[in-house]
Amino acid sequence: MERIYIFDTTLRDGEQSPGASLNIEEKLEIAKQLARLGVDIIEAGFPITSSDDFKAVRLIAKEIKGGPIICGLARAKKVDIDRCYQAIKYAEKPRIHTFIPSSDVQIGYQLQKSREEVLEIAQDMVSYAKQYVSDVEFSPMDAARADPHFLYQIIEACIEAGATTINIPDTVGYTTPLEFGDLIRNIIENVPNINKAVVSVHCHNDLGLATSNSLSAVLNGARQIECTINGLGERAGNTSLEEVVMALYTRGNYFGLNTGIKLDEIYKTSRLVSTLTGIPVQPNKAIVGENAFSHESGIHQNGILKESTTYEIIRPETIGLKSRRLVLGKHSGRHALHSHLIELGYELDDNQLNKAFRRFKKLADKKKEIFDEDLEAIVEDEIYTIPEAFHLDYLHVSTGTQAIPTATIRIKKEKRIFQEAATGNGPVDAIYKAIDRITGYNIELLDYSLKAVTRDKDALGEVLVKIRHGDKIVSGRGTSTDVIEASANAYLNAINRLVYKGIGK
Ligand code: KIV
Ligand code: ZN
Repeated sequence: MERIYIFDTTLRDGEQSPGASLNIEEKLEIAKQLARLGVDIIEAGFPITSSDDFKAVRLIAKEIKGGPIICGLARAKKVDIDRCYQAIKYAEKPRIHTFIPSSDVQIGYQLQKSREEVLEIAQDMVSYAKQYVSDVEFSPMDAARADPHFLYQIIEACIEAGATTINIPDTVGYTTPLEFGDLIRNIIENVPNINKAVVSVHCHNDLGLATSNSLSAVLNGARQIECTINGLGERAGNTSLEEVVMALYTRGNYFGLNTGIKLDEIYKTSRLVSTLTGIPVQPNKAIVGENAFSHESGIHQNGILKESTTYEIIRPETIGLKSRRLVLGKHSGRHALHSHLIELGYELDDNQLNKAFRRFKKLADKKKEIFDEDLEAIVEDEIYTIPEAFHLDYLHVSTGTQAIPTATIRIKKEKRIFQEAATGNGPVDAIYKAIDRITGYNIELLDYSLKAVTRDKDALGEVLVKIRHGDKIVSGRGTSTDVIEASANAYLNAINRLVYKGIGK
């Protein structure tokens, strides 16, 4: 089997998803998990775009050792490449990824340059990046809509200048599988020095074809796929990592290609990214959606009971989805919790373990049976958290069919306590109004979702919210056996993110 390199761009293109807001620590957490997942390259960010992005890429380059290549994105400009290098230079295996438009529409309208000028800039900037690192990737942006003859020229020139990976982006998600496969094959046949570089593809999902286009590309000679966890990314997103990886694995006989991905880390990575970005995974999403392994039809259930392969092409355990296990209860101690968390793949320090244990005890008082999913929610809540500028101290809600929903709320900020009451269309609306009065932020609620972490009636409820303040969009998450409390915590968590990012009222 030949190897396909998996280039993960969740932290760069994925972070360009509307509403995905990650702080530096969260980006590092995701990078660590991507390394455990076994991706070959992590595109950690676009350092020129902000000082936070720069710091995140630098931190990831410093911390992630002994595994993937750490890559930073840069336009084909010296300032971008300089800044990118300053961030990635700490990595054991650094890569600079530089790009420039290649379609006539983008060259003409956006760059207002000629093809000849673009070719010269691209070649110069690849040589410039090459002074810093030996591993340079070049992307002719919007390649799927570019003139193939121009692509052959610019690719040949950039390989001559030292590019070791040539990435062919379908920037606007316009191409279709057969056409894209032909483009890749034609590039390989028409660029004389192509054997000196790895051919990569980067597909967007505007027509829902990103996975198919990427798979068609590898059938035609591409050897690197750029993708994101849960298919996050600009607009309709990018090729979803879990989909291409599982297609190559499940249909190994057909493709004859493999990856270095640790399949049983897929589900955990998907959950972590969803939790930290605040972007839920749609239930019917292939591989990692909640319904991906549930069989509703009686005929299917009957078949599965007799022989799972009748209707199941992937075993849930393959992607690390364990069958729900009753794990711990009220009487379990700190040690039992610790060993179980290790089994689940969480390595907590003493302080984190203490926090998780306190929360576990509180939950065990309310909920008889604690499942893996509950523990995962606790860890995600308590560990991957940001400082609490505003902390929920007390909440009382009265509501009913004949009552005006009213919330009384007390919030702690530093050492001071603030109290407010408000009425609303429903209890959550009343709570959010009272919180707005205390925090003073002028917030628009863009999205609210509630789901149960496990299936029992006393399950933990998980609330995800997305809020807008001015032009900033952030997300928040809260969990509790009381969904009203979870709603308040999710909203406060989002406001705390605004504070943490230094966004004032
Ligand atoms: O979609 C795109 O063209 C990109 C490039 C920067 C590779 O994200
Ligand atoms: Zn992209």
